[in-house]
Amino acid sequence: MKLTLKVWRQNGENDKGRFESYQLEASEHMSFLEMMDVLNEQLIAKKEVPVAFEHDCREGICGACSLVINGRPHGPMSGTTTCQLHMRHFKDGETIVIEPFRAKAFPVIKDLVVDRSSFDHIIQAGGYVSVNTGQAPDANDILIEKNVAAKAMDAAACIGCGACVAACPNASAMLFTSAKVSHLAHLPQGQVERRRRVSAMIDQMDEEGFGMCSNTYACEAECPKEISVLNISKMNREYLNANLTS
Ligand code: SF4
Ligand code: FES
Repeated sequence: MKLTLKVWRQNGENDKGRFESYQLEASEHMSFLEMMDVLNEQLIAKKEVPVAFEHDCREGICGACSLVINGRPHGPMSGTTTCQLHMRHFKDGETIVIEPFRAKAFPVIKDLVVDRSSFDHIIQAGGYVSVNTGQAPDANDILIEKNVAAKAMDAAACIGCGACVAACPNASAMLFTSAKVSHLAHLPQGQVERRRRVSAMIDQMDEEGFGMCSNTYACEAECPKEISVLNISKMNREYLNANLTS
């Protein structure tokens, strides 16, 4: 495949940034990130600065990969992370535009790498269960109904990538935050801190500069783990309940 890549290059938060064009030959059997590796090998061979982009597991698990490809976070395939996207989904001769996730709360560190520590701050505010850990309890010690476990598991599938924020016209983090709140609110282990958790996480979300949800559902459409917006309604109910009863 002969490709033209238009890649966003930016030297840190205060640089204006610009698109640079590169010509590249890639195989349709490569993953998108392997194609980016080929680009960087070419740049290094020419003694040019390689493109900074994030990745870790390359298996759709860690949430590190974070590219906007042709205007869509994680590219054109639904339910697919950038690292699981393959070049066979692009055409020979195509021009591919590659940008970072754009949001006020995700400042650009370099090129395609953004700082997503605002998500860490939301988790630190309450996305955990406080327990005195010891030996791991037997899996069947706490019985949980199958349908409840399934709902919790669906919400727990969120990998914290931030595509929902990048897709949202308001750069809202409601889908991410609601997935974490909903996951723990469904489980018996999450009950003790349930009211404090939802208030603290929503307060932190606002403090980090994320926008409000305006029900466009762009987050759900672009989420690589297909997290449902029903989690947002669940979080709103949790928040109301916490405020009425605290
Ligand atoms: S809700 Fe989806 S898009 Fe948002 S952080 Fe979680 S996995 Fe990524
Ligand atoms: S690199 Fe881990 S999810 Fe893509």
